[in-house]
Amino acid sequence: MQIIHTISELKALIASYKQDARTIAFVPTMGNLHEGHLQLVSMAKNKADIVICSIFVNPLQFGVGEDFDKYPKTLQADTARLQPLGCDIVFAPSVDEMYPADFSGAQEQTAQSQIVAQSQIIVPWISDILEGKSRPGHFTGVATIVGKLFNIVQPDTAVFGEKDYQQLIVIKRFVKDLCFPVNIQSHPIVREKNGLAMSSRNGYLTEQQKQQAALIYQQLKNIARKLIAGNTDYVQLEQTASETLNHHGFRTDYIKICHPDLSEPAISKTSRQLVILAAAYLGSTRLIDNLSVELKQ
Ligand code: PAF
Repeated sequence: MQIIHTISELKALIASYKQDARTIAFVPTMGNLHEGHLQLVSMAKNKADIVICSIFVNPLQFGVGEDFDKYPKTLQADTARLQPLGCDIVFAPSVDEMYPADFSGAQEQTAQSQIVAQSQIIVPWISDILEGKSRPGHFTGVATIVGKLFNIVQPDTAVFGEKDYQQLIVIKRFVKDLCFPVNIQSHPIVREKNGLAMSSRNGYLTEQQKQQAALIYQQLKNIARKLIAGNTDYVQLEQTASETLNHHGFRTDYIKICHPDLSEPAISKTSRQLVILAAAYLGSTRLIDNLSVELKQ
């Protein structure tokens, strides 16, 4: 396994793989890897000849006051976990490598405004609801870095986790709209024994909070059961679950029953599929989760 820090070095390797007609599967991450990430890499391993995993904490997708500065940087531990999985390349660039301040007029600006001044990929509408409403600019940051990484890595396939459901929809949208030649694959959420969706941010929780946090998934399952039983009062279902979480020490941002493409209304005549999405704070940690539901015909 090679660890590469520069775009030029990685591009040289990619060119040689392309010349040998070897296929590439790509897993973009922000590091601090857990079992959920490792399953993405294992899935990627079955999709192509070469597996590339990127580790880059992308400042562009963090808002002011969010956890960019404290986001754990654990490159050594991460590479040790990737090696036995047969990952071929870890791409771990610096912020300067990904967002160089090389445009005119940048000298007078702060690091953050230099990054904001870069060209960006904006996915309208989907980026502004749910997570995007509470985290303005987040999905533009995600789409921009993922698009940029796709152009560097030129993968045949890229694998994302379904825990970041809205992120997956945003990525699928710009890949389709802008004709990126990459096949997007997703992997189901990997959960702790108690049901808590695995996330790098779970590391911010105390042991007691980790037990408490499983209540989000219990509420999602509760709503799913009621939907399957024929309850169509979505607003009431969302409100009850939200109140239950708040009663147990969470600060719920949203619980929303949506159509799988996140469009409204949630139920179309042709689809019986729904997705329930939740975001709630436990202490200062923002947790998200989701559950797909198939209604009976
Ligand atoms: O899901 C993540 O870890 C990040 O949003 C991603 C896709 C690596 C982009 O920075």
